[in-house]
Amino acid sequence: MTSYADTYAAWKADPDGWWMEQAQAIHWDRAPSRALDDSKAPIYAWFADGLTNTCYNAVDRHVEDGRADQVAIIWDSPVTGAQQKITFAELRDRCASVAGALEARGVEKGDRVIIYMPMVPEAVIAMLACTRIGAIHSVVFGGFAASELATRIDDAKPKAIIAGSCGIEPNRTVAYKPLLDAAIDQAAHTPEFCIIFQRDQQRAELIEGRDVDWVAAQEGVSPADCVPVEGSHPCYILYTSGTTGQPKGVVRDTGGHLVALNWSMKNIYGVDPGEVFWAASDVGWVVGHSYITYAPLIHGNTTVVFEGKPVGTPDASTFWRVMAEHKVASFFTAPTAFRAIRREDPEARHMQGHDLGHLRQIYLAGERADPDTIEWLQDVSGKPVYDHWWQTETGWTIVGNPVGIEPLPVKLGSPTVPMPGYEVHILGEDGAELPDGELGAIAVKLPLPPGTLPTLWHAEDRFRKAYLNSFPGYYETGDAGRKDADGYLWIMARTDDVINVAGHRLSTGLMEEVLATHPAVAECAVVGVADDLKGQLPMGFLTLGRDCDTPHEQVVKEVVQLVRDKIGPVAAFKLAVVVDRLPKTRSGKTLRATMAKIADGENFKTPATIDDPAILDELRERIAAIGYPKA
Ligand code: COA
Ligand code: AMP
Repeated sequence: MTSYADTYAAWKADPDGWWMEQAQAIHWDRAPSRALDDSKAPIYAWFADGLTNTCYNAVDRHVEDGRADQVAIIWDSPVTGAQQKITFAELRDRCASVAGALEARGVEKGDRVIIYMPMVPEAVIAMLACTRIGAIHSVVFGGFAASELATRIDDAKPKAIIAGSCGIEPNRTVAYKPLLDAAIDQAAHTPEFCIIFQRDQQRAELIEGRDVDWVAAQEGVSPADCVPVEGSHPCYILYTSGTTGQPKGVVRDTGGHLVALNWSMKNIYGVDPGEVFWAASDVGWVVGHSYITYAPLIHGNTTVVFEGKPVGTPDASTFWRVMAEHKVASFFTAPTAFRAIRREDPEARHMQGHDLGHLRQIYLAGERADPDTIEWLQDVSGKPVYDHWWQTETGWTIVGNPVGIEPLPVKLGSPTVPMPGYEVHILGEDGAELPDGELGAIAVKLPLPPGTLPTLWHAEDRFRKAYLNSFPGYYETGDAGRKDADGYLWIMARTDDVINVAGHRLSTGLMEEVLATHPAVAECAVVGVADDLKGQLPMGFLTLGRDCDTPHEQVVKEVVQLVRDKIGPVAAFKLAVVVDRLPKTRSGKTLRATMAKIADGENFKTPATIDDPAILDELRERIAAIGYPKA
């Protein structure tokens, strides 16, 4: 048995050789001659001269290797009461058929396809169908509003869009089609056609000449074969929040993605092919891309596609029920989901009657995992709980517990140690390495490993500026933290304007851009404030124009609605206060961190550079009027 230390050292001693060895677990139509192509450093490519296909590796290969009758996808939908099991053989045929429908309408290698769908197996099939023919998908989360979808349409310029007619939230059915139509109206780019997956809960009216029904689209078309693509060919684009309103189009390649995700399933998540893996997330997020769709299937696992919430669908027993009923071996979700379950069912009575005998461990990521929640979860489930830290950009674990190699001792509050491929450093503002225990910017020495982003979609300059320029030779993660003497990492906070609401990554900069469009608003700032359930919530601060005679409560109501309409309900923007002035430094910089500390009731030192300290008293009063800081 090897140890983590030996594995990490083996990677470090010969990164190319180590990754080439991992690449042998993947089927190549043409084997790569080397792992890393650094000819354009600091823009790197992995397995660039290999030829392969993602859908073939995730689906067809398993059919040919004796897994034809193994269930590939279990769909469990407590919001509709439906369940479905799809074997690898069925999945191959369904992917080939949808890929055929795209191909018949002119979609080719390199064309983009936007997918805007709820948590149904057809979403996963649509993703795989794109990769089957080398088309590049971009999945947009259903909780985003039309204008956010429009922004992504204009950036990705898709030839086609595949959408569901509706999504089902516990309290309402969300019609997706009107959002899609509005987004296409708003966007400058127009897709050639849309394929609409009709759900019985709310069917959509199709626009003649543009929309085609999911079933009708597949009639009379030939199933498509897998198209071999270069290892460096983009597999997908996934938009994520950055500092500005314009989301970043994270590009994922093909070869590195296959190799890294396949490696992660056994070594990080501790599962063998054939076992059931469940990531309770959404295909609109990176966790859904990597650990609902791609990694489990590439590795020959059964994946659970879950359409529901941890609570309210119908109650706090749902997660335990799904784990027991489908014999889940390894489970992954965001800490907020367990905070929600604990709030409803602190003694975990709902766990009774659900046999968790197959479950070996639970993984948490997406936001800080508070030790209290981890301890509660360990106690009630009796299973080890592992925090791990990564981001949309990396697509898989930067720092985690390599359970399949050797489970390392858990230190509550730390996601453990860097995975092979990642050399993690804590840097000071001047770029110098900080000693153990000191807080600094977390940076990863270049090159990033396979499976991480090679660049941003059609925005290499932005890629360099956002990630590479601050610390030459390193990738800047945007997180701050420290390392201890045992090499464990501690993730403390973001260094930018990104906040994390219920495991969803959101940009306060984008919210500010939306608030500023309200005619009464003169100036605004949005900060993240602590929340017991969702980790953070956005709170807006507004100053109004001199001639504004609209009552403050009315303006607040209107801006809350505006953010919901422009960004979407997922922003969870419900808190805003009107103030006379925003606290600023003498040079005019808004003191966002100070505002967040006041709202959180934290001690802070009045910044020496503040323009007028009296403003903070007014701020405190207005925040208190909406019930903050929370007791
Ligand atoms: N389509 C349309 N609307 C959606 C949506 C979707 N796919 N997903 C969420 N929304 C809406 C919700 O209905 C809600 O609207 P509301 O303001 O009208 O209530 C809003 O967006 C916020 O949703 P959500 O973040 O899910 O919060 P919630 O209050 O409904 O539930 C939790 C809270 C903790 C139960 C929930 O956030 C959760 O299950 N989190 C799990 C974490 C997770 O999946 N993270 C992904 C990364 S791993
Ligand atoms: P996303 O790109 O949506 O996955 O969000 C990534 C960001 O979420 C990271 O940069 C961190 O700020 C935060 N994050 C993710 N996982 C963790 C974790 N385990 N602990 C602390 N923060 C985390």
